[in-house]
Amino acid sequence: LQNIIICLILGYLCGCLSTAYFIGKANNIDIRKYGSGNAGTTNAMRLLGIKAGILTFLGDALKAFIPILIITFVIFKNEPYVHLLALYTGLGVVIGHNFPFWLNFKGGKGIAATGGAILAFDWRIGLAAFVVFLLSVAITRYVSVGSLLISLLFPIGVLVFYPGDLHMLLISIIFTVLAFIRHRANIKRLMNGTENKIGQKVKIEQ
Ligand code: G3P
Repeated sequence: LQNIIICLILGYLCGCLSTAYFIGKANNIDIRKYGSGNAGTTNAMRLLGIKAGILTFLGDALKAFIPILIITFVIFKNEPYVHLLALYTGLGVVIGHNFPFWLNFKGGKGIAATGGAILAFDWRIGLAAFVVFLLSVAITRYVSVGSLLISLLFPIGVLVFYPGDLHMLLISIIFTVLAFIRHRANIKRLMNGTENKIGQKVKIEQ
């Protein structure tokens, strides 16, 4: 239990490093006040362009990817349940990203961080998630559809590659639930046909 708490806290602190917020500040805006109001890759791209989007994605994915690798191959490398600790670390990162204490708990939706976490946890599920994301966004033009699909794919991947491990399955389902909770507004917009499509840039009017 102690190790799980260490992983959750370490992950949470890494997750709090909100790349989109920093990039927004570097461009003199609080990204959470414009576009969809989300401190994430899609909104950074929408408001500040493709470079800002890529940087945000890399920052947010790496803040999950790197700590999980460190947990898996350095800190807890001898623990028999190291994969479970990797999942808890990723969960901590996503919670920190979504609810950063120093930004009044108003962060992002946790998908880039989830992607980085999945890839570090198991590259086979990571690769599948990457393909599903690219295809679904290419076909629908909605990033949120890709985001929701990869969060659904995660527990399916855990079921396939770690059959019978209920604890890991449960944690991966928490990732999914978090993603759906954070995408409530997107889901509503998708249902009434008003969701933003990829490539629609938004002017920042201050
Ligand atoms: O991962 C976030 C994406 O799915 C939607 O972002 O800014 O359109 O709400 P946004």
